[in-house]
Amino acid sequence: MNIRPRRNRKSMAIRAMVEETKLGAENLIYPIFLEDGKNIKTEIKSLPNNFRWSLDLLLPEVEQCMNLGVNTFDIFPAVSEHLKDVTATYSYAEENFYLHAIRKLKESFPEIVIMSDVAMDPYSSDGHDGLVRNGKILNDETLPILAKMAIAQAQAGVDIIGPSDMMDGRVGFIRNELDLNGYADVSIMSYTAKYASAFYGPFRDALNSAPKSGDKKTYQMNPANKREALLEAELDFSEGADFLMVKPALCYLDIIHILKENFNIPITAYNVSGECAMVYAASQNGWLNYENTMSEMLLSIRRAGADGILTYFAKDFAQLLKNR
Ligand code: PBG
Repeated sequence: MNIRPRRNRKSMAIRAMVEETKLGAENLIYPIFLEDGKNIKTEIKSLPNNFRWSLDLLLPEVEQCMNLGVNTFDIFPAVSEHLKDVTATYSYAEENFYLHAIRKLKESFPEIVIMSDVAMDPYSSDGHDGLVRNGKILNDETLPILAKMAIAQAQAGVDIIGPSDMMDGRVGFIRNELDLNGYADVSIMSYTAKYASAFYGPFRDALNSAPKSGDKKTYQMNPANKREALLEAELDFSEGADFLMVKPALCYLDIIHILKENFNIPITAYNVSGECAMVYAASQNGWLNYENTMSEMLLSIRRAGADGILTYFAKDFAQLLKNR
């Protein structure tokens, strides 16, 4: 035997020298749930270790994350039922607490990167990402609503707009409206290959945003499809997306990989609520080691080709890196 791969694994120092994939806190985006009010930190039952925060308690939390090297946050609003309507008007209303909170966060920590979510679901009385009429999700009629939402968010200081709605043509529509309104510097991280997945359950619990009827299969992608992800990516790229996202991450590592091979802009992946919930549940039962499982999952997403990873593990992983 003249070739023995084990020689390159014989000590920690050699293993570290030949390590092919590195993952740091700078690659992580931390999704955070925001609720209107004061002194609120409510744990999400189906996503332990994650909370719905009111702004006053979120500010020190964000500071703690920054001290661990996590500087990018994706903020999602939990909106009371009485503020929801068919056309999601609260999403761009003057008094929207989410927009006020973003403004305050940017004032308090100008160096952070704030990403937002653009889709109708948290504000829609139908719980769908697009406008519903006679049981159908309308595409072109949804676009101006999404654009209004995006402009209101840009005005509040969002750095990266995250259209998660999967309507056709929305990236180009939003890009155009942002530019016309003086927000050429605001980026778009498109949910490019977003699949109709069973792994979004805990997120919908957190925001109480599940569809009131039907499912999202006429706009989110079929998990069986891979080439279609390339088509979505071509569209988003040509419409001006700055990042292409794959969502969920773990069951879709092949999709992350082909987008990375085929497009020369950053690829990101969303390690979604259900993927993290499985690890929380198994580790609480003593079936899996939390830190090792989380690290292996995040590393695999990075190895597949993700430049950035949205994950509920962001803070814990950054803490782990710091302790190492
Ligand atoms: C809203 C949205 C969803 C997620 C992010 N943005 C849910 C959905 O499409 O139903 C899911 C994130 C997660 O599960 O962590 N359009």
